[in-house]
Amino acid sequence: MLLLVCGVLVISQAMAYQQDYCYADDENPYLMFATKTAYEFVHSKPRNPEVVPSCKPVQFWLLSRHGTRFPDKKDIAGMEHLPEVRDQIIRNHEERKQGRLCEEDLEKLKRWSLSVFPAQADNLANQGYDDMKFMARRFKSQFPTLLNKPYQDDLYVFRSTDKQRTKTSAKAFAEGLFGNDADKVHVQTYPNDTLLKAYLNGRWCQRWKDLVDNNNDTFREKSLFEMGPQMQNLIQNVSQRLGFNYRLTYRQINDMYDMCRFDKAWNIRDISPWCAVFSSEELQLLEYREDLQDYYNYGYGNSLNIKLGCPPVKDFMSRFREIEDGNVQPTGVFYFTHRKMIQLVLAHLEIAKDDEHLTHTNYMAMKNRKWKSSLISPFSSNLAAVFFKCESGEQNRVMFFLQEKLYNYKGCNVGLCNWSFIKESLKKLQTNVTSISAVETGMVPDSYNQCTLH
Ligand SMILES: *[C@@H]1O[C@H](CO)[C@@H](O)[C@H](O)[C@H]1NC(C)=O
Ligand SMILES: *[C@@H]1O[C@H](CO)[C@@H](O)[C@H](O)[C@H]1NC(C)=O
Ligand SMILES: *[C@@H]1O[C@H](CO)[C@@H](O)[C@H](O)[C@H]1NC(C)=O
Ligand SMILES: *[C@@H]1O[C@H](CO)[C@@H](O)[C@H](O)[C@H]1NC(C)=O
Ligand SMILES: *[C@@H]1O[C@H](CO)[C@@H](O)[C@H](O)[C@H]1NC(C)=O
Repeated sequence: MLLLVCGVLVISQAMAYQQDYCYADDENPYLMFATKTAYEFVHSKPRNPEVVPSCKPVQFWLLSRHGTRFPDKKDIAGMEHLPEVRDQIIRNHEERKQGRLCEEDLEKLKRWSLSVFPAQADNLANQGYDDMKFMARRFKSQFPTLLNKPYQDDLYVFRSTDKQRTKTSAKAFAEGLFGNDADKVHVQTYPNDTLLKAYLNGRWCQRWKDLVDNNNDTFREKSLFEMGPQMQNLIQNVSQRLGFNYRLTYRQINDMYDMCRFDKAWNIRDISPWCAVFSSEELQLLEYREDLQDYYNYGYGNSLNIKLGCPPVKDFMSRFREIEDGNVQPTGVFYFTHRKMIQLVLAHLEIAKDDEHLTHTNYMAMKNRKWKSSLISPFSSNLAAVFFKCESGEQNRVMFFLQEKLYNYKGCNVGLCNWSFIKESLKKLQTNVTSISAVETGMVPDSYNQCTLH
């Protein structure tokens, strides 16, 4: 009898000491880390060649974010504080008997060391190279008639922004398509690119910088969310879980979150001990916090953003129009840019648009939101537009692919769109955007009209 009581006591004590959750044992951990999500956890799986009855693809157009990169200098500087935080967490658990990380998570944390250096800042990581190379191979098997051909200058256009991570992404993509012939590929770059960096160099960029990017209102919902009860609880809970008897700062929370998601994106098969710091619900709150920022900075939260997404859309529209008119166009057009441009373009096309705005108060209601940066703009995120020539029905058709998955564009037949319909809907969208922007910004619509399709 006594023995039994003792046994129960020991068990309940062990349970009280242990965390109720062990990240290292989680077979299905939450891996949606907003804009630092690994592409491997998002893209559509390899598929058979795209077969559309009585149609053949004639042009493949792609706008892609670079693959997994290293953090910027500022974020690396933050991460350099983590070894000290780690030591403190270990002391909290072992000496002060504070904190609730499980044994295994704590062990992993002990073995962790910082493996990123300031000289690597912003560059493409090895995994990022693979992201792009394997993406190219999957597209090649999906569209063999367009992409499974030897390289020729007049068949393929490669263009990237003037950064190591995008230029190297273009190179990796070329390697995926052409193997050793990739050396022949000429990747165009323009110092002040108005197509792939419309937010820095485009016609509306000064306006956008003043009204959106440098405007505190843009970050209002995010700041209010940070001050709200859910995020305050998160800080409290994480601090306690790690054994601190004071509240960690946002800066420290950010450093740990960044380390968790970058670690995971660099080593997709490994577990990052820094992810064990957060519960799955907490990771979702951090994801929402970041979505709130991007939504107002590059998404539907401001109609000027929608306007800024125009140039790449205009690019594929004019190319498809050329084909319609019987003119020669390259077989493949590949652009490599940054997440901002991806988000602006999606917003221009009304992709991932929710019925309600994201705000600091509707986290729960928006749990299944379409504007989820983990899904729409992870590393290597991409939008492909493919033009088809058909023998029955409407002759010209278009399909969109988001992260390699056929996108069910509104008003189309399971993703297969009449070209005439796309032309009409984009014209309508643009007319609307022009008039809204004019009202909100007090500018005459005319000064925004550079990027219309007609
Ligand atoms: C690009 O922009 C910078 C800064 O606005 C300017 O100094 C430079 O001359 C521009 N370069 C080209 C090639 O237009
Ligand atoms: C925007 O916020 C920053 C930092 O909080 C502050 O210094 C600045 O004065 C604010 N600007 C405006 C226009 O409110
Ligand atoms: C933080 O802990 C409190 C109390 O244990 C709990 O009710 C709440 O859901 C936790 N918050 C988060 C974001 O996990
Ligand atoms: C596409 O056009 C064809 C012929 O013009 C029409 O019959 C069909 O309904 C259209 N499809 C869609 C999805 O609008
Ligand atoms: C354009 O705006 C009008 C009025 O706000 C709206 O009814 C219509 O659906 C919009 N069209 C598109 C294509 O968004």
